[in-house]
Amino acid sequence: MNKSVSKTCGILTSGGDAPGLNAAIRAVARTAMNVYGMKVIGFEHGYRGLIENRSRVLKPTEFSSILTLGGTILGTSREKPFKDKNWCEENNATCAVNSIKETYHKLGLDSLVILGGNGTNTTASLLVNEGLNIISLPKTIDNDIVETDITFGFHTALSVATEAIDRLHSTASSHNRVMVIEVMGHKAGWLALYSGVAGGGDVILVPEIPYDINSISRHLKQRGKDGKSFSIVVVAEGARSIEEAGMDKKKFKKLRAQMSGSIGYRIAHEIQKAAELDARVTVLGYVQRGGTPVAYDRILATEFGTAATNMVAQGDFGKMVAMQGNHIVGVPLEKVANRIKTVPLDHEMVKSARDVGTCLGD
Ligand code: F6P
Repeated sequence: MNKSVSKTCGILTSGGDAPGLNAAIRAVARTAMNVYGMKVIGFEHGYRGLIENRSRVLKPTEFSSILTLGGTILGTSREKPFKDKNWCEENNATCAVNSIKETYHKLGLDSLVILGGNGTNTTASLLVNEGLNIISLPKTIDNDIVETDITFGFHTALSVATEAIDRLHSTASSHNRVMVIEVMGHKAGWLALYSGVAGGGDVILVPEIPYDINSISRHLKQRGKDGKSFSIVVVAEGARSIEEAGMDKKKFKKLRAQMSGSIGYRIAHEIQKAAELDARVTVLGYVQRGGTPVAYDRILATEFGTAATNMVAQGDFGKMVAMQGNHIVGVPLEKVANRIKTVPLDHEMVKSARDVGTCLGD
């Protein structure tokens, strides 16, 4: 066995599930057990399992045949342990953060590997400040985590969304219709942009580029004049109109809460009104998060998981593993916390989309 500063390592998955989580769990656990002889303790349902000490010592047999399994064998949640910290301190109450530290020490943990997205990594950064030895892995289908070129889960969701767009071409062309497909991505439009380019979307709407329905209408009508009998419109769930982008957050949220149906239905309705074209909607939703990971995500999750465990063994804590260029590096968690990677307006993929004639709503 190789030397390791850590003897007992905890692991949890937090936030939205994503394809590749089980591949990452397998990589962390096998490296910890087989290379370093560590004991690995799994926590159920994200940070909630740490707060409530819902844990179990993981057995080597648990990692056979999970490389290709979607979801997470540990379960997950969107628990935010620091949400009541101030109240607890003011009221001298045992808060979630104290419970986490109690669990950590009671189980004799000397390291914790956390798999999650932006919210999870922000919490992980705060737990580092509370003295816990943490390494995190960047997981999300949104690919919206800073300091890493790519997150595991994104390529599988991209593949699912692209296949759906491919399928919509045949029905759209059969009925001479506009097909609107809504994909995930609340604050960042990476999934919509990449699946739109991969699937040949004629219009791609992302949160970063507020849309003008008149611009969309002109583009779709011009396609008709050019003899194109159908169009595909790819919309990120967080896409906004120019008017909405100018609103304060509260007013925007209120307006959206009053809307019947998600943004895809709103766009279809506006297209029917402005362009007088027949439009139908597909909301891809959680299909993008389910199922077996594509090969790329299995490889990325395995690389991240083994690298994370090697960093644990070396005591290189307080970091998120990241892909930068073609290299896996460790990035200080304080550089990741409270940040989100949105699509830069001058990103090469934005330019490529425009160069092939895609309308981005502006
Ligand atoms: O963060 C990943 C994600 O799938 C987003 O794309 C989506 O907006 C959100 O999670 C949905 O959250 P929940 O799974 O809590 O409904």
